[in-house]
Amino acid sequence: MASNRTFTMIKPDAFEAGNSGAILKMIEEAGFKIIAVKATQLTPELAGKFYEVHAARPFYADLCKYMSSGPIIAAILEKENAVEDFRTLIGATNPANAAEGTIRKIFAKSIEANAVHGSDSDENAAIEGSFYFSQFERIS
Ligand code: CMP
Repeated sequence: MASNRTFTMIKPDAFEAGNSGAILKMIEEAGFKIIAVKATQLTPELAGKFYEVHAARPFYADLCKYMSSGPIIAAILEKENAVEDFRTLIGATNPANAAEGTIRKIFAKSIEANAVHGSDSDENAAIEGSFYFSQFERIS
């Protein structure tokens, strides 16, 4: 059964640029409910753990450095068909390939500093949400 939750991070580039509010507004206007949210900053070690699946990729070291370079916002979002609909809302990983009107097209600076993260599966949405939030930190 498809889950109705996904997980997102507003990344250091978007947070630093003061775009968190505008991005959260786009997320809510697209019909997502924010059921858990916090501002925090990753250590390089925690960033490495979160992105462990990419450990063998050439961009991994830079990604960990970048993701721990400043504050982020982590959130669990709820909507029917959440994972797929959120990936449509944010657009392609590389903003150069992102569709007009998507969050990455509007706010991302590069393939690395691409404004937001969105889970790529229901399974990863649950794992990634649990990385940041306990059941007591969620609305339900
Ligand atoms: P995200 O969707 O959070 O998942 C992995 C992240 O690695 C990606 O967004 C980018 O921030 C970063 N990244 C950097 N270089 C690449 C690349 N060449 N391909 C995919 N992701 C990249």
